[in-house]
Amino acid sequence: MSNSTELIRLEGIKKSYNGVEVLHGVDLSVNAGEVVALLGENGAGKSTLVKILAGDISPTQGTIKINGTEYSGLDVYGARDLGIRMIFQELNDAPSMSVAENIFLGQWPTTGGKVAWKELKAKAQDVLDRLEVNIPLDAEAGSLRVGERQLLEIARALIQNAKILVLDEPSAALSNVEVERLFSVMEQLKAQGVGMVYITHRLDEVSRVADRVQVLRDGNSVLSKDAKDVSRQDMVTAMLGHEASGNTRPVVSKPNKVVLEINNLSDGHVFRDITLNVKEGEVVTLFGKIGSGTSEILESIFGLRDIASGEIKISGQI
Ligand SMILES: Nc1ncnc2c1ncn2[C@@H]1O[C@H](COP(=O)(O)OP(=O)(O)OP(=O)(O)O)[C@@H](O)[C@H]1O
Ligand SMILES: [Mg+2]
Repeated sequence: MSNSTELIRLEGIKKSYNGVEVLHGVDLSVNAGEVVALLGENGAGKSTLVKILAGDISPTQGTIKINGTEYSGLDVYGARDLGIRMIFQELNDAPSMSVAENIFLGQWPTTGGKVAWKELKAKAQDVLDRLEVNIPLDAEAGSLRVGERQLLEIARALIQNAKILVLDEPSAALSNVEVERLFSVMEQLKAQGVGMVYITHRLDEVSRVADRVQVLRDGNSVLSKDAKDVSRQDMVTAMLGHEASGNTRPVVSKPNKVVLEINNLSDGHVFRDITLNVKEGEVVTLFGKIGSGTSEILESIFGLRDIASGEIKISGQI
Protein backbone atom coordinates (compact mmCIF):
# COMPACT_ATOMS: atom_id res chain seq x y z
CA MET A 1 0.00 0.00 0.00
CA SER A 2 1.41 3.38 -0.96
CA ASN A 3 1.91 5.57 2.04
CA SER A 4 1.68 8.82 0.15
CA THR A 5 -2.09 8.87 -0.46
CA GLU A 6 -3.53 11.75 1.51
CA LEU A 7 -6.63 10.65 3.39
CA ILE A 8 -7.48 13.82 5.25
CA ARG A 9 -6.46 17.42 5.24
CA LEU A 10 -7.89 19.94 7.66
CA GLU A 11 -6.94 23.49 6.83
CA GLY A 12 -7.22 26.75 8.74
CA ILE A 13 -9.52 25.23 11.35
CA LYS A 14 -10.87 27.72 13.85
CA LYS A 15 -13.24 26.90 16.65
CA SER A 16 -14.90 29.12 19.21
CA TYR A 17 -16.89 27.99 22.21
CA ASN A 18 -19.29 30.69 23.38
CA GLY A 19 -17.36 33.35 21.53
CA VAL A 20 -13.97 32.27 22.87
CA GLU A 21 -11.66 31.01 20.15
CA VAL A 22 -9.77 27.88 21.22
CA LEU A 23 -8.40 26.82 17.80
CA HIS A 24 -6.79 29.63 15.83
CA GLY A 25 -6.40 28.21 12.33
CA VAL A 26 -4.92 24.73 12.64
CA ASP A 27 -3.90 22.37 9.80
CA LEU A 28 -3.77 18.61 10.13
CA SER A 29 -3.18 16.00 7.46
CA VAL A 30 -2.95 12.23 7.59
CA ASN A 31 -1.81 9.88 4.84
CA ALA A 32 -2.83 6.28 4.33
CA GLY A 33 -0.86 3.99 6.62
CA GLU A 34 0.46 6.92 8.63
CA VAL A 35 0.24 7.49 12.38
CA VAL A 36 0.27 11.13 13.42
CA ALA A 37 0.89 11.70 17.12
CA LEU A 38 -1.04 14.78 18.21
CA LEU A 39 0.53 16.27 21.31
CA GLY A 40 -0.08 19.24 23.55
CA GLU A 41 -0.70 20.26 27.12
CA ASN A 42 -4.14 20.02 28.72
CA GLY A 43 -6.52 22.39 26.97
CA ALA A 44 -4.28 22.87 23.92
CA GLY A 45 -7.18 21.93 21.64
CA LYS A 46 -6.36 18.32 20.66
CA SER A 47 -9.78 16.85 21.42
CA THR A 48 -11.54 19.81 19.84
CA LEU A 49 -9.58 19.33 16.62
CA VAL A 50 -10.28 15.61 16.33
CA LYS A 51 -13.93 16.04 17.30
CA ILE A 52 -14.21 18.32 14.28
CA LEU A 53 -12.67 15.58 12.15
CA ALA A 54 -15.15 13.03 13.54
CA GLY A 55 -18.11 15.33 12.86
CA ASP A 56 -18.84 15.59 16.55
CA ILE A 57 -18.64 19.38 16.51
CA SER A 58 -18.41 21.81 13.61
CA PRO A 59 -15.59 24.25 13.03
CA THR A 60 -16.22 27.99 13.15
CA GLN A 61 -14.00 28.33 10.09
CA GLY A 62 -11.77 26.19 7.88
CA THR A 63 -12.02 23.33 5.42
CA ILE A 64 -12.03 19.58 5.75
CA LYS A 65 -10.84 17.52 2.81
CA ILE A 66 -11.40 13.78 2.89
CA ASN A 67 -10.07 11.67 0.02
CA GLY A 68 -9.72 14.88 -1.98
CA THR A 69 -13.32 16.07 -1.52
CA GLU A 70 -13.85 19.27 0.42
CA TYR A 71 -16.45 19.60 3.18
CA SER A 72 -17.29 22.75 5.13
CA GLY A 73 -18.32 20.57 8.03
CA LEU A 74 -19.16 16.97 8.75
CA ASP A 75 -21.81 15.42 10.93
CA VAL A 76 -21.19 12.20 12.80
CA TYR A 77 -22.98 10.10 10.18
CA GLY A 78 -21.17 11.73 7.29
CA ALA A 79 -17.83 11.14 9.00
CA ARG A 80 -18.77 7.54 9.74
CA ASP A 81 -19.73 6.91 6.11
CA LEU A 82 -16.30 8.13 5.12
CA GLY A 83 -14.70 5.56 7.42
CA ILE A 84 -13.68 7.92 10.20
CA ARG A 85 -13.79 6.23 13.58
CA MET A 86 -13.02 7.78 16.90
CA ILE A 87 -11.96 6.23 20.18
CA PHE A 88 -12.87 8.89 22.69
CA GLN A 89 -11.12 9.84 25.88
CA GLU A 90 -14.42 9.16 27.64
CA LEU A 91 -16.04 5.72 27.43
CA ASN A 92 -18.71 5.56 24.79
CA ASP A 93 -20.18 2.11 25.33
CA ALA A 94 -23.46 0.68 26.60
CA PRO A 95 -22.57 -0.65 30.05
CA SER A 96 -25.64 -2.86 30.49
CA MET A 97 -25.12 -4.64 27.16
CA SER A 98 -22.87 -7.61 26.54
CA VAL A 99 -19.38 -7.47 25.11
CA ALA A 100 -20.59 -8.92 21.79
CA GLU A 101 -23.48 -6.46 21.56
CA ASN A 102 -21.18 -3.57 22.30
CA ILE A 103 -18.73 -4.49 19.57
CA PHE A 104 -21.56 -4.18 17.04
CA LEU A 105 -23.32 -1.33 18.80
CA GLY A 106 -25.94 0.18 16.50
CA GLN A 107 -24.94 -2.06 13.59
CA TRP A 108 -26.06 -5.53 14.58
CA PRO A 109 -26.05 -7.97 11.66
CA THR A 110 -29.54 -9.20 10.83
CA THR A 111 -31.12 -11.98 8.82
CA GLY A 112 -34.80 -11.75 7.93
CA GLY A 113 -35.33 -8.81 10.29
CA LYS A 114 -33.82 -10.65 13.27
CA VAL A 115 -30.44 -10.16 14.86
CA ALA A 116 -28.07 -12.78 13.49
CA TRP A 117 -26.64 -13.76 16.86
CA LYS A 118 -24.44 -16.54 15.57
CA GLU A 119 -22.78 -14.28 13.02
CA LEU A 120 -22.54 -11.48 15.56
CA LYS A 121 -20.78 -13.67 18.10
CA ALA A 122 -18.45 -15.29 15.59
CA LYS A 123 -17.33 -11.92 14.24
CA ALA A 124 -17.04 -10.43 17.72
CA GLN A 125 -14.86 -13.36 18.82
CA ASP A 126 -12.74 -12.97 15.72
CA VAL A 127 -12.01 -9.33 16.38
CA LEU A 128 -11.26 -9.97 20.07
CA ASP A 129 -8.83 -12.69 18.99
CA ARG A 130 -7.12 -10.19 16.71
CA LEU A 131 -6.77 -7.86 19.68
CA GLU A 132 -5.67 -10.82 21.84
CA VAL A 133 -8.34 -9.77 24.31
CA ASN A 134 -9.56 -12.57 26.50
CA ILE A 135 -12.99 -11.55 27.79
CA PRO A 136 -16.23 -13.54 27.56
CA LEU A 137 -18.63 -12.32 24.87
CA ASP A 138 -21.55 -12.57 27.29
CA ALA A 139 -20.02 -10.42 30.03
CA GLU A 140 -21.72 -7.10 30.69
CA ALA A 141 -19.53 -4.27 29.43
CA GLY A 142 -20.15 -2.37 32.66
CA SER A 143 -18.53 -5.15 34.70
CA LEU A 144 -15.19 -4.82 32.89
CA ARG A 145 -12.16 -2.74 33.76
CA VAL A 146 -11.94 0.65 32.04
CA GLY A 147 -8.96 -0.53 29.97
CA GLU A 148 -10.91 -3.55 28.74
CA ARG A 149 -13.86 -1.34 27.82
CA GLN A 150 -11.48 0.92 25.90
CA LEU A 151 -10.26 -2.12 23.96
CA LEU A 152 -13.90 -2.99 23.20
CA GLU A 153 -14.30 0.41 21.59
CA ILE A 154 -11.23 -0.29 19.49
CA ALA A 155 -12.75 -3.66 18.54
CA ARG A 156 -15.86 -1.79 17.42
CA ALA A 157 -13.83 0.52 15.21
CA LEU A 158 -12.12 -2.52 13.65
CA ILE A 159 -15.47 -4.19 12.92
CA GLN A 160 -16.70 -1.02 11.28
CA ASN A 161 -13.83 -1.04 8.83
CA ALA A 162 -12.16 2.16 9.87
CA LYS A 163 -10.13 3.98 7.21
CA ILE A 164 -9.14 6.78 9.54
CA LEU A 165 -8.88 5.99 13.19
CA VAL A 166 -8.63 8.69 15.81
CA LEU A 167 -7.48 7.58 19.25
CA ASP A 168 -7.90 10.25 21.90
CA GLU A 169 -5.64 9.22 24.75
CA PRO A 170 -6.59 5.55 24.75
CA SER A 171 -3.52 4.53 26.68
CA ALA A 172 -4.41 6.57 29.76
CA ALA A 173 -6.66 3.75 31.02
CA LEU A 174 -4.73 0.78 29.58
CA SER A 175 -2.26 -1.43 31.42
CA ASN A 176 1.21 -1.87 29.89
CA VAL A 177 0.19 -5.21 28.39
CA GLU A 178 -2.94 -3.67 26.87
CA VAL A 179 -0.90 -0.80 25.42
CA GLU A 180 1.37 -3.36 23.74
CA ARG A 181 -1.69 -5.06 22.22
CA LEU A 182 -3.00 -1.74 21.03
CA PHE A 183 0.34 -0.97 19.38
CA SER A 184 0.39 -4.31 17.61
CA VAL A 185 -3.14 -3.72 16.30
CA MET A 186 -2.07 -0.26 15.15
CA GLU A 187 0.79 -1.92 13.24
CA GLN A 188 -1.72 -4.25 11.52
CA LEU A 189 -3.94 -1.32 10.64
CA LYS A 190 -1.01 0.65 9.25
CA ALA A 191 -0.17 -2.26 6.98
CA GLN A 192 -3.78 -2.15 5.74
CA GLY A 193 -3.42 1.54 4.89
CA VAL A 194 -5.50 2.92 7.77
CA GLY A 195 -4.44 6.44 8.74
CA MET A 196 -4.41 7.24 12.45
CA VAL A 197 -4.31 10.25 14.73
CA TYR A 198 -2.99 9.23 18.10
CA ILE A 199 -3.34 11.61 21.05
CA THR A 200 -1.22 10.84 24.06
CA HIS A 201 0.46 12.49 27.01
CA ARG A 202 3.03 9.69 27.22
CA LEU A 203 5.91 10.98 25.16
CA ASP A 204 7.80 7.69 25.35
CA GLU A 205 5.04 6.15 23.21
CA VAL A 206 5.55 8.61 20.39
CA SER A 207 8.73 7.17 18.91
CA ARG A 208 7.20 3.68 19.12
CA VAL A 209 4.07 4.36 17.09
CA ALA A 210 4.23 7.66 15.29
CA ASP A 211 5.43 8.48 11.79
CA ARG A 212 4.80 12.16 12.29
CA VAL A 213 4.47 14.40 15.32
CA GLN A 214 2.26 17.44 15.50
CA VAL A 215 2.16 19.65 18.58
CA LEU A 216 -0.63 22.05 19.50
CA ARG A 217 -0.10 24.88 21.96
CA ASP A 218 -2.92 27.20 23.01
CA GLY A 219 -4.92 26.39 19.89
CA ASN A 220 -2.04 26.82 17.43
CA SER A 221 -0.03 24.18 15.63
CA VAL A 222 3.56 24.82 16.68
CA LEU A 223 5.37 21.77 15.33
CA SER A 224 4.76 19.19 12.61
CA LYS A 225 7.67 16.93 11.67
CA ASP A 226 8.67 13.38 10.89
CA ALA A 227 8.86 11.51 14.19
CA LYS A 228 12.43 10.39 13.46
CA ASP A 229 13.54 14.04 13.35
CA VAL A 230 11.98 15.01 16.69
CA SER A 231 13.60 14.45 20.06
CA ARG A 232 11.75 14.22 23.33
CA GLN A 233 13.20 17.62 24.24
CA ASP A 234 11.83 19.09 20.98
CA MET A 235 8.37 17.83 21.87
CA VAL A 236 8.49 19.18 25.41
CA THR A 237 9.79 22.55 24.28
CA ALA A 238 7.07 22.82 21.62
CA MET A 239 4.37 21.82 24.11
CA LEU A 240 5.48 24.26 26.79
CA GLY A 241 6.70 27.08 24.56
CA HIS A 242 10.00 27.12 26.44
CA GLU A 243 12.60 24.66 27.59
CA ALA A 244 11.61 22.58 30.57
CA SER A 245 13.97 22.70 33.51
CA GLY A 246 15.08 19.31 34.76
CA ASN A 247 13.27 19.80 38.04
CA THR A 248 9.66 20.83 37.68
CA ARG A 249 9.18 21.64 41.35
CA PRO A 250 9.55 25.34 42.03
CA VAL A 251 12.89 26.30 43.47
CA VAL A 252 12.40 28.05 46.77
CA SER A 253 14.68 30.85 47.79
CA LYS A 254 14.76 30.06 51.51
CA PRO A 255 14.47 26.30 51.62
CA ASN A 256 15.06 26.04 55.32
CA LYS A 257 12.09 28.03 56.57
CA VAL A 258 9.74 25.78 58.55
CA VAL A 259 6.12 26.48 57.55
CA LEU A 260 4.40 23.73 59.52
CA GLU A 261 5.67 22.57 62.89
CA ILE A 262 3.95 19.87 64.88
CA ASN A 263 5.17 19.04 68.38
CA ASN A 264 4.15 16.03 70.46
CA LEU A 265 0.64 16.02 69.02
CA SER A 266 -1.92 13.55 70.40
CA ASP A 267 -5.66 13.29 69.87
CA GLY A 268 -6.11 11.02 72.85
CA HIS A 269 -7.45 8.15 70.73
CA VAL A 270 -5.78 7.26 67.47
CA PHE A 271 -2.36 8.90 67.42
CA ARG A 272 0.00 10.23 70.03
CA ASP A 273 3.25 12.11 70.37
CA ILE A 274 3.56 13.09 66.71
CA THR A 275 6.35 15.52 65.87
CA LEU A 276 7.10 16.65 62.34
CA ASN A 277 8.25 19.71 60.41
CA VAL A 278 7.45 20.77 56.88
CA LYS A 279 9.77 23.28 55.24
CA GLU A 280 8.90 25.71 52.48
CA GLY A 281 8.80 23.98 49.08
CA GLU A 282 8.98 20.56 50.67
CA VAL A 283 6.65 17.61 50.17
CA VAL A 284 6.40 15.35 53.21
CA THR A 285 4.71 11.99 52.77
CA LEU A 286 2.94 10.31 55.68
CA PHE A 287 3.02 6.56 55.32
CA GLY A 288 1.02 4.06 57.31
CA LYS A 289 -1.39 1.20 57.02
CA ILE A 290 -5.13 1.89 57.07
CA GLY A 291 -6.05 2.70 60.65
CA SER A 292 -2.55 3.80 61.61
CA GLY A 293 -3.68 7.39 62.11
CA THR A 294 -2.30 9.23 59.06
CA SER A 295 -5.72 10.58 58.01
CA GLU A 296 -6.52 11.56 61.58
CA ILE A 297 -3.29 13.54 61.88
CA LEU A 298 -4.21 15.52 58.78
CA GLU A 299 -7.73 16.07 60.13
CA SER A 300 -6.24 17.59 63.26
CA ILE A 301 -3.93 19.83 61.21
CA PHE A 302 -6.96 21.08 59.29
CA GLY A 303 -8.89 21.65 62.53
CA LEU A 304 -11.44 18.95 61.84
CA ARG A 305 -10.39 16.81 64.81
CA ASP A 306 -9.79 17.92 68.39
CA ILE A 307 -6.33 17.57 69.83
CA ALA A 308 -5.70 16.40 73.36
CA SER A 309 -2.13 17.63 73.72
CA GLY A 310 0.78 19.03 71.76
CA GLU A 311 0.91 21.99 69.38
CA ILE A 312 0.56 22.90 65.71
CA LYS A 313 2.44 25.96 64.46
CA ILE A 314 1.83 27.36 61.00
CA SER A 315 4.54 29.80 59.91
CA GLY A 316 5.53 30.06 63.54
CA GLN A 317 2.02 30.88 64.85
CA ILE A 318 0.16 28.48 67.11
N1 LIG B 1 -17.67 22.05 25.14
C1 LIG B 1 -16.85 23.06 25.46
N2 LIG B 1 -17.33 24.26 25.83
C2 LIG B 1 -16.50 25.27 26.14
N3 LIG B 1 -15.16 25.19 26.11
C3 LIG B 1 -14.61 24.02 25.76
C4 LIG B 1 -15.43 22.88 25.42
N4 LIG B 1 -14.61 21.84 25.11
C5 LIG B 1 -13.34 22.31 25.25
N5 LIG B 1 -13.34 23.60 25.64
C6 LIG B 1 -12.15 24.44 25.86
O1 LIG B 1 -11.38 24.41 24.67
C7 LIG B 1 -9.99 24.36 24.96
C8 LIG B 1 -9.40 23.14 24.29
O2 LIG B 1 -9.92 21.98 24.93
P1 LIG B 1 -9.63 20.51 24.44
O3 LIG B 1 -10.52 19.60 25.20
O4 LIG B 1 -9.71 20.47 22.97
O5 LIG B 1 -8.12 20.33 24.90
P2 LIG B 1 -7.19 19.03 24.90
O6 LIG B 1 -5.94 19.43 24.20
O7 LIG B 1 -7.94 17.86 24.38
O8 LIG B 1 -6.88 18.85 26.44
P3 LIG B 1 -6.69 17.51 27.32
O9 LIG B 1 -5.27 17.09 27.13
O10 LIG B 1 -6.94 17.99 28.72
O11 LIG B 1 -7.69 16.49 26.87
C9 LIG B 1 -9.87 24.37 26.48
O12 LIG B 1 -9.64 25.68 26.88
C10 LIG B 1 -11.23 23.88 26.94
O13 LIG B 1 -11.53 24.43 28.19
MG1 LIG C 1 -8.55 16.08 25.23
